[in-house]
Amino acid sequence: MEISRIRKHLQAEKVGEQLFVFNELGSTNDVLRELVAEGSDADGTVVVSDSQTGGRGRLGRKWVSPGGMNLYLSALFRPEVSPRRSSVFTFLASCALVEVFSAYGVDAEIKWPNDILVGGKKISGVLTELGTSGGAIDYLVIGIGVNLNLPEEFIRSEMEDISEKTTSLSILLGEEVNREKFCAELINALDRFYGEFRRRGTGAIVDTWIEMWGFLGKEVSVDVSGEVVSGVVERVDANGFLYLRTDEGDLRKVITGDTVF
Ligand code: BTN
Repeated sequence: MEISRIRKHLQAEKVGEQLFVFNELGSTNDVLRELVAEGSDADGTVVVSDSQTGGRGRLGRKWVSPGGMNLYLSALFRPEVSPRRSSVFTFLASCALVEVFSAYGVDAEIKWPNDILVGGKKISGVLTELGTSGGAIDYLVIGIGVNLNLPEEFIRSEMEDISEKTTSLSILLGEEVNREKFCAELINALDRFYGEFRRRGTGAIVDTWIEMWGFLGKEVSVDVSGEVVSGVVERVDANGFLYLRTDEGDLRKVITGDTVF
């Protein structure tokens, strides 16, 4: 990926102002953290790589990261919010992704907390990691992987266990996607939502996310450390915590977990 071809499409104010593009690295999240440790710690710094040798997903899973096909991007945010609100930044990334996919005519669904699916198949995932100091957020690294030009044959041959549940934008559109342009569009969208957060706080992001998610008032089942909790979503608070009314009438607060279908 060429940095100049990304910059050509950039309209962002803050996100991507500092932009680093690599051919290959371990994980964009790790390299961004290293850059922060070395002092390249400007709010909105973005790292992109053509391939990753150690791409990571949530819960220690591997993120398949071949070169020449996809987007692997990490963005640095330095918001003044409490660490308990960090999942709102996963929501922020989800909102940006849904908006960009929609501009391609693709109706993407959010699977709480961090997956983006199309037609029930995963196209993108978000890995949020934070650095804290003295109980406050020092920085947040939002890692985003998007399957852009992953062909069906690659999914079938290389991603056996998840092949039935994986798709890519080129499969959906029936044509190759310009990765640099998509990358810039995603950075632009992250910048818009980050601006919205700075002006109006986490509540504004959560409100947009709730609308895009579409499960308020509906029944969901979530796996919380092995226990499946089912209930109607009564509300989502400004921290991004879910409140589920179970069949027994209890209100369960869910901070983290995985949606079960
Ligand atoms: C998940 O679905 O579990 C999250 C996947 C996140 C993958 C991205 S790719 C860019 C960044 N670097 C990583 O190592 N992981 C994230």
